[in-house]
Amino acid sequence: MQLERLLQKHGFGTRKDCRALVRRERVRVNGEICDDPFADIATDGLVFSVDDVEWPYLEHATVLLHKPAGYECSRKPQHHPSVLELLPLPLRERGVQPIGRLDEDTTGLLLITDDGQLNHQLSSGKRKVPKVYLATTKHPLDQAQIDQLLAGVLLHDEPEPIVAAAAEIVDEHTLRLTVTEGKYHQVKRMVAAVGNRVEALHRAAVAELELPADLKPGEWRWLSAVDMEKLVKSK
Ligand code: URA
Repeated sequence: MQLERLLQKHGFGTRKDCRALVRRERVRVNGEICDDPFADIATDGLVFSVDDVEWPYLEHATVLLHKPAGYECSRKPQHHPSVLELLPLPLRERGVQPIGRLDEDTTGLLLITDDGQLNHQLSSGKRKVPKVYLATTKHPLDQAQIDQLLAGVLLHDEPEPIVAAAAEIVDEHTLRLTVTEGKYHQVKRMVAAVGNRVEALHRAAVAELELPADLKPGEWRWLSAVDMEKLVKSK
């Protein structure tokens, strides 16, 4: 692929911007400066750099983010900054979108991608992708609440009861809840329906992909092939 086109595809601006980057010797291909915007570059396993920041060549960009509290999962946020602001500009310019939404005050694993098909596969309710949450509750948890969550709770505007795929008490005020839908405020509403209240919410996993322990709030990393396998196992 032509270097200029490759840079454009990876979010480095218009063709003209990309050509200028190359001509100013700001781009390296496999470690070597390349000043020809029209050079034909082999993309397989390619790593290029712009101003010494490395980028893998990726047909689609998918990252996992440790979402901190205080960010909205929207491209046009209303009251708080968008989670997309935690990503570098070229990545945002690729048109990446969060896969499903977490509330502004929810923390944890958020996938962000420009792969429309993957986004659809993982967020479509029909696929029943398990999402694992840790909810800190206001009141002590008890077995009756767990039994109700597992039997199904009726939420306002939902025709059928919503059944938790798994629910367990981690400690007196921590519930581990797995749901397969992605309804608005789902966990908070389910917990409210059993007479308790969520005071803090954290997403620990999507399908078999867990939030990496070394990824701090606000940090992101590329989704690896191993991560992808863990994600699509549930498809
Ligand atoms: N359920 C909620 O209530 N909030 C979230 O952010 C995610 C699931």
